[in-house]
Amino acid sequence: QHSRRFKTADWLMSQTKHRPQVAIICGSGLGMLADTLKCQDSFTYSDIPGFPQSTVQGHAGRLVFGELKGKTCVCMQGRFHMYEGHSLCKTTFPVRVFKLMGVETLIVTNAAGSLADGLQPGDIMIIKDHVNFPGMVGLNPLCGPNDDKFGPRFPAMSGCYDKALRCSAMEIAKQLGVAGLTQEGVYAMVGGPNFETIAEARLLHRLGVDAVGMSTAPEVVVATHCGLRVFGLSLITNKVVKSYEDSDSVNHEGVLEVGRLRSHTVQQLVTELVSRMEINNNNDTNNAV
Ligand code: HPA
Repeated sequence: QHSRRFKTADWLMSQTKHRPQVAIICGSGLGMLADTLKCQDSFTYSDIPGFPQSTVQGHAGRLVFGELKGKTCVCMQGRFHMYEGHSLCKTTFPVRVFKLMGVETLIVTNAAGSLADGLQPGDIMIIKDHVNFPGMVGLNPLCGPNDDKFGPRFPAMSGCYDKALRCSAMEIAKQLGVAGLTQEGVYAMVGGPNFETIAEARLLHRLGVDAVGMSTAPEVVVATHCGLRVFGLSLITNKVVKSYEDSDSVNHEGVLEVGRLRSHTVQQLVTELVSRMEINNNNDTNNAV
């Protein structure tokens, strides 16, 4: 896997002059951000040597390189989920490729269901911390021999969502006039692909989870392991049904619909965050590990 990652990173760097400082993984319905990059070079996943293939119908998945507010970025339009049957190694493969290309900061976005009473569909939750349910029982991308070139055997995960970036995002939300829609919270990853039963929803709620989704935690674990700075946000697309009295039920179309409605706001927030980001500019591609 290690040499495969090198091969992929080398191939990408031979195909584009961009040397990204920031990588952005776009969640469901939030991929339009990639279309706003200037001087784009884009690659369909199936054309990238060694890259995993997307199984989501009608969406091949693309890696888009370009400039966003003067910073060089790479966006994943379409991510790899565990529920698709991908190994966690494949799910997180792009993160280490980004590291090898010299990326310093990873931004992850996702769609999530809310358990917290104060989070409504359309709200934005800045991820303060996560509960990696699959990871806690052994479905962790870091299982197996440790690659010491990327990071330690037993990496700390406290503080994995960078505090300065979270503060900056709250500040930006205020300035965009969406502070009322934006708050920090705890994200929990479940395996999916089914949405939660009511008993599962109640359990998550009692455990202090604010929002639940089926992605993100593996990528963040691998990014933190190799020393990337991480920012994450969830777009709340639905309330998770917690009552037997409630006749509502969540569906994928509804999730995508809210994603589309709020995608512009999320895009503005991420764009402004990137714009204000401090970059070290050491550009040590490939020597990064
Ligand atoms: N549960 C799990 N994942 C999700 C949800 C949900 O309610 N909404 C969007 N992704």
